[in-house]
Amino acid sequence: MRLVLLGPPGAGKGTQAKMLEGELGLPQIASGDLLRTAVRAKTPLGVEARRYMDKGALVPDELVIKLVEQRLQQADAVNGYILDGFPRTHKQAEALRQMLAGHGQAIDVVAALIVPNDEIVKRISGRRTCRNCGATYHLIFDPPRNMNVCDKCNGELYQREDDAEDTVRMRLQTYDTQTKPLLEYYEQAGLLRRIDGVGSLETVHQRLKTALAGVAQRA
Ligand code: AP5
Repeated sequence: MRLVLLGPPGAGKGTQAKMLEGELGLPQIASGDLLRTAVRAKTPLGVEARRYMDKGALVPDELVIKLVEQRLQQADAVNGYILDGFPRTHKQAEALRQMLAGHGQAIDVVAALIVPNDEIVKRISGRRTCRNCGATYHLIFDPPRNMNVCDKCNGELYQREDDAEDTVRMRLQTYDTQTKPLLEYYEQAGLLRRIDGVGSLETVHQRLKTALAGVAQRA
């Protein structure tokens, strides 16, 4: 299955993608994680991307499209994937459609997590991320067993630089203007499933699984 997870920053895309990974046997491919890896490695793309990420703006389409395209060609993606955070603009959505069409493939379903802004601010302010494996926690809603230590790999938990309040506000604006229109784009393509993203992690997960049940997979 080729699944796209859409939703504003902090909606729970990464959390739900990680829960689905094992159940569906598909890799989570998160454009934000790919970019953060490039930033940490200080590659030319990473250095360029950081200028945008620190402001809460989108990284230019051509950089992200190239990065994701390379990732989709890896062996673990051959039977499908969970795309988290990509596409985020009309240009990226079209590039993805054409990239897949070139291989006789297409996106099977797009699941959009709907979460209001006040809930998002609560979620992002309490988020902690593992420096080592990228697992995410929430200090109240999904706390680690030991403060600042990842349950899965004992890595150090940190607060993402772009989770500062002003940057979050900018990311929400960026979502509204550049990414939200994709809901309409995918609705018209008959691929969109809207999921109420408010509720416990497990409640949202069950809604997501119900929405995905019976999705017909294409080539
Ligand atoms: P990216 O890393 O993709 O960030 P994002 O889309 O802003 O999404 P987040 O990672 O903030 O949130 P999420 O929805 O995954 O939520 P999570 O599961 O962690 O992008 C970062 C930056 O990179 C962008 O700003 C941009 O600059 C650049 N970028 C990335 N992709 C790009 C692209 N395609 N084009 C251009 N630029 C791009 O959950 C959040 C918190 O809530 C966690 O603490 C979690 O534990 C908690 N939580 C989750 N679910 C629930 C629940 N049901 N109840 C309570 N708490 C919950």
